[in-house]
Amino acid sequence: DPADVPVITIDGPTASGKGTLADEVAHELGYWILDSGALYRATGLAASRAGIDLDDAQAVAAVARGLDLHFRKGRATLAGEDVTEALRAEATGLMASQVAAHQPVRDALQQLQLDFRRAPGLVADGRDMGTAIFPDAGLKVFLTASAATRAERRHKQLISKGISASIEGLRADLEARDARDKSRSASPLKPAADALSLDNSAQTIEESRDLLLRWWAERGPFS
Ligand code: DC
Repeated sequence: DPADVPVITIDGPTASGKGTLADEVAHELGYWILDSGALYRATGLAASRAGIDLDDAQAVAAVARGLDLHFRKGRATLAGEDVTEALRAEATGLMASQVAAHQPVRDALQQLQLDFRRAPGLVADGRDMGTAIFPDAGLKVFLTASAATRAERRHKQLISKGISASIEGLRADLEARDARDKSRSASPLKPAADALSLDNSAQTIEESRDLLLRWWAERGPFS
């Protein structure tokens, strides 16, 4: 029964380090991982490639329902094409934020997300993992970092990949995306009432990881 499988949710704004933290914690515990943002990114990418208006909720929801997306060995394929890098692009993140505002799109992706809940456990990261998709999760974390820190980290990431970008531009982009993710009516970004907050602006990834593992050990999977 999936309800017996323990879940840790990590929600938070753009570039707060959710993905890295989720990877680390899942690795330590031997759990599965759900990068829910990748589903919205793939939907935005597939819809835009099909020439669909991203404001057309029903048309985009149809794309989400037919998503031919697979994850294997750290790579993502969409209709057989490797889209690992395309999914991570800033432009794709903005498209994801746009299609994620539509309730029919969120409904279309719900079951796909629930299917990731498999033994021995799951670490799920996104915006509404603790509030909408896994409300019964044993540990819910709301991860934040200052906008300056997030823009700086994103900048470093891009530079290391040989992509140039301005910190000011990145900060403006992520603040615009956060504003949309928080203000939408469908599953807006906000901490679950029972979430533990963690501001990792001044923390290393190891420190955040160890804190989460301590919380998990203290609360147990079914607290
Ligand atoms: O986490 P990310 O940057 O990959 O997410 C991309 C966009 O997808 C984000 O701006 C909002 C949306 N999203 C969402 O609405 N709900 C989720 N659970 C995950 C992402």
